[in-house]
Amino acid sequence: MASESASARHVAIIMDGNGRWAKRRHLPRALGHKRGVEAVRELVRAVPAMGIECLTLYAFSSENWKRPEDEVGDLMNLMRKFIKSDLPEFIENGVRLRIVGDWRALDSDIVAMLEDALERTANGTQTLAVALNYGSQQEIARAATQAAHEGEITPDTIAAHLDTADLPPLDLLIRTSGEVRLSNFLLWQSAYAEMIFVDTLWPDFTPAHLRDALARFAARERRYGGR
Ligand code: IPE
Ligand code: IPE
Ligand code: MG
Repeated sequence: MASESASARHVAIIMDGNGRWAKRRHLPRALGHKRGVEAVRELVRAVPAMGIECLTLYAFSSENWKRPEDEVGDLMNLMRKFIKSDLPEFIENGVRLRIVGDWRALDSDIVAMLEDALERTANGTQTLAVALNYGSQQEIARAATQAAHEGEITPDTIAAHLDTADLPPLDLLIRTSGEVRLSNFLLWQSAYAEMIFVDTLWPDFTPAHLRDALARFAARERRYGGR
C-alpha cells in the first residue's frame, strides 16, 4: 500500500520561525523574514527536480495583520522586492504562479504586480501557489456562499469554489519551527493530507529538508478510511 503515497504531487508548507531565527542571533526580525525569502528562492529552484507538481507556501495569513505595523510593512516590502527580483527567473524556469487567499485586498501596487506576474507565468508547468492574506475558514465561507448561490451545498460544490480548486489534491503538509498547529491554513484540503512537523526554523529549511520530508511521506500508508 505504500505505493499509494510514493510521490507527492502537491506539497504545502507553513513557513514558520523567521522571528525566532532572528531572535536567536540577536538580529532584527526583519532580517529573519529576509532570510526566509532566500530559503523560498532556493526551494523553488530545487522543486522541479523533485517531481512535485505544485508547491503551496503560506506567506501571509489573514491573522498576520495583528502584527505591529512596521513588521507588516516589512513583509509587504519583501513581497514587492521578491516579485520584482524573481519574476524573470520564474518565467525562464516555467514556474506558474498562483495566489490563494484574499490577495486583491492587499495594497493596489502589490495587486497590480501580482496580476502582471500571474499573466506572465500563466504558461508555466511547475505550479507555485503563494497564500497571501489567506485564511482557510474565510476561504471555506466564501466557497460555501458561492455554492449556495448556484444550488446545493455539498463537499464537491464547496471544493469546486475553493481558491485551490484547480490545484492537485494536497498530499503533504509541512510546518517548520516546532509548532504543531495549522494556523488557519488549508483546513479543508488537509482532510487526508499527510502531515510532517519539523523543528527547523524556516530560514534554515533547505531543499535537503524537503527531500527528507518526501522520503518520510513515501513511507506512509494512506488509507482514506478504507483498509
Ligand atoms: C513566519 O515567521 C513568517 C510569517 C508568519 C509571515 P514568524 O514571523 O511567525 O516567526 P516566529 O514564529 O515568530 O518565530
Ligand atoms: C502561520 O504562522 C502563518 C504563516 C506562516 C504565514 P504564524 O506564526 O502566523 O502562526 P501562529 O500565530 O504561531 O499560529
Ligand atoms: Mg510564527
